[in-house]
Amino acid sequence: MFKRNPLYVLMLTLSVGLIMYTVYANFIHDPHAAAFLNHKTNLKRPLPLTLWLNVMYVHVFFACLAMASGAINFNEGFLRRSRKGHRINGYIYLISVALVDLTSGYMAPYATGGKISSVAFNLLNSVWLGMTIAAIVQIRKKRVDKHRKWMVRSYAFCFTNLFIHLFTYVLNDGLGLDYVLSYRISIYAAIAALFLLAELVIRKVYRLGKN
Ligand code: HEM
Repeated sequence: MFKRNPLYVLMLTLSVGLIMYTVYANFIHDPHAAAFLNHKTNLKRPLPLTLWLNVMYVHVFFACLAMASGAINFNEGFLRRSRKGHRINGYIYLISVALVDLTSGYMAPYATGGKISSVAFNLLNSVWLGMTIAAIVQIRKKRVDKHRKWMVRSYAFCFTNLFIHLFTYVLNDGLGLDYVLSYRISIYAAIAALFLLAELVIRKVYRLGKN
């Protein structure tokens, strides 16, 4: 499926738009993350600003690479034309996820919202890498459907940052909740929503079963 599939086109448009916005927002518009750091008022430990910013740049770069390589590999036409390309690109995706995770591990203790937030980020770190490795293990055993399911689950979490900011916007700007509380709730809501979205895509788009 997916070659000229409207849902693939929609996903690709969303991914490309998000990559462009992420690069613009974090490297051009607000390279010092001033707006985001403004909310870090009650941190338990002082934030080493220069190091934190450099880690964030690496985080954003590999997040964009994960979004791009993942989007390309969901193209069935590309898979048919070049198995080798799909495989190499798949490993680029795996390495990118590992580096987003590694940088996330550094940033998590300084997360806005304190321990409640950092626990969720650290949990997601291990689950996200676990899902991505599961996808690779399945395809090495030639289980294509299971590989596809785990990749859908893994790729959904490329939209973590978007979902956190969308939920925070609704709760903070829309409902007037305190920013830090909105951000904490949004991390958990984003994780739950992305899990559900992945299962929806697996069942309704790919029409694959639960396992
Ligand atoms: C793949 C798409 C992702 C993008 C584009 C992205 C982007 C960003 C950006 C721009 C920031 C700086 C703060 C902000 O403006 O939000 C950030 C912070 C952070 N990200 Fe990601 N991220 C992604 C995925 C993830 C994932 C999957 C995790 C966890 C496994 C994660 C963990 C973190 C953590 C812990 C922080 C610091 C949060 C804080 O200080 O409160 N990110 N991310």
